[in-house]
Amino acid sequence: PALLVTSSSAIPAEEQAKLVETSKRLAAYQAVKDHLLSSYTRIGIGSGSTVVYVVEAIAALGPAATADMIFYPTGAQSEDLIEAAGLRLQYINKLPAAEQLDVAFDGADEVDADLNLIKGGGACLWQEKLVATAAKRFVCVADFRKLSARLGTSWKKGIPIEVLPMAAPRVLAELKAMGSHNPRIRPGLPGKAGAIVTDNGMWIIDAPFTPLLLPRDAEEGGIKAGNGDNGVWQVDALADKLIKIPGVAEIGLFYGNNGLEIASGAQKPVAAYF
Ligand code: 5RP
Repeated sequence: PALLVTSSSAIPAEEQAKLVETSKRLAAYQAVKDHLLSSYTRIGIGSGSTVVYVVEAIAALGPAATADMIFYPTGAQSEDLIEAAGLRLQYINKLPAAEQLDVAFDGADEVDADLNLIKGGGACLWQEKLVATAAKRFVCVADFRKLSARLGTSWKKGIPIEVLPMAAPRVLAELKAMGSHNPRIRPGLPGKAGAIVTDNGMWIIDAPFTPLLLPRDAEEGGIKAGNGDNGVWQVDALADKLIKIPGVAEIGLFYGNNGLEIASGAQKPVAAYF
């Protein structure tokens, strides 16, 4: 008997869209159930369409359950979500530097087998990284389309890179020299001319690369280190190089352990829900 694979492309588009929304919603409710303890008081809220369900799940706990909780946004959309749900809002610059959020929830554009992430599809990556790394626990919520063995497999638009507008031409040239295929300045939202402008007044460059190797690929497969030879990069090596390009403010790779314990102040999530 043949091995039968039901291709998602056989599912009508309208049904697929419903499946995606159901997947986001289920993942969000489960993540909140597992990771929002009643003792928590400071919670980071990310950006994007999946986080809408995270906030919905939190609001569904009721005013009594959330009365002592303060919510820290990652941008204008996130701020609106918190306020519309009637939750208490505060900004990350008001959090004493020596203290941490109890947990932060956020979406992702792609998640690899080691829980490295591509983020920034909604242009909020800089504040998202600030909030994720300020949290003791960072939890990623996504739908089934986002999981890949290697970053750059399903999210083909490229790694979002937040740049100082006047640095954009030089950053683009450097990205091409590093092997990015057709890096581009992200255009404004429909109806808006020019480049997209982030909440921080920056631009976004989307830089596609060949799917990124994991550190363990080199150990297990005898593959060359992924240091950019032939345009092949290991996720950590690429991230370390991208962040050092003059004019780059932040990158949409949430990777490695940032030299810290995974459960505290790291860029990677402690758990990803799909
Ligand atoms: C925004 C992000 C989002 O978390 C990411 O783009 C996922 O968005 P969505 O939940 O709408 O798929 O990083 O900058």
